[in-house]
Amino acid sequence: MKHIAIFATGKGSNALNIINYFKNSISIKVTLVVSNRSDAEVLEKAMLAGIPVMVLESKKEFSQPAFIEFLKKQSIDLIVLAGFLLLLPENLVKAFHQKIINIHPALLPKYGGKGMYGMKVHEAVLKNKEIESGISIHYVNERFDEGEIIFRQKCPVDASDTPASLAAKVQQLEHEHFPKIIEQILSH
Ligand code: GRF
Repeated sequence: MKHIAIFATGKGSNALNIINYFKNSISIKVTLVVSNRSDAEVLEKAMLAGIPVMVLESKKEFSQPAFIEFLKKQSIDLIVLAGFLLLLPENLVKAFHQKIINIHPALLPKYGGKGMYGMKVHEAVLKNKEIESGISIHYVNERFDEGEIIFRQKCPVDASDTPASLAAKVQQLEHEHFPKIIEQILSH
C-alpha cells in the first residue's frame, strides 16, 4: 500500500476529489490531511470522509523534526500540495526529496511565484490577453512553483472569459488529471 498525505489551506475541492478517487483503491490510500489553517474548509471535508486531519499553523511547525519523523512513521510515500499556500521549510523538502508535488492553476513557468495564487493567477492571465491557460503539476523545491514540471494540460482562454469562468475551466482540468498523475507517480 502506498500512502499519501495531502497538505491544503483552503476549500479542498482537489483534496476531496483525490480522497474520493482512491477511496476503493487497494494500492493507494490517503492517510492524512494537513492544513495550516484551523478554519480551512478542507478539514471538515476530510473528516467527513473519515481521513485523519492535523493542523500546523506555521512554517516553523512544519519544520519540526518530530513532524517529519511522524510522516516517516506513517510511511508517507507522497506529499500532495492541493491549494497549500505556505512555503515548505527546507528540511521537510529535503526529507521528502522528489516526493512532494504541487498543482498550479496556470502554465508554469509563467504566472508562478510568490503571490501568484487563486484568482490573482487568472486575473494576470486575462490581463495579458493570453489565448491559453491550464494546469501544471510539478515537484516541489524550496522556492514557490519552481520545481521540475511533471505534467501540463492546456485550455483555451476565450475573449468572454472572466477570472471566475477561467478558474472553473482550470479547476475542471485539475479534478480530471491530478488523481491520475498521482496514481502514475506512485506506480513507478
Ligand atoms: C487550485 O486551483 C490549485 O491549483 C491551487 O489552489 C487551488 C485549490 O483549490 N494551488 P481547492 O482548495 O482544491 O478547491
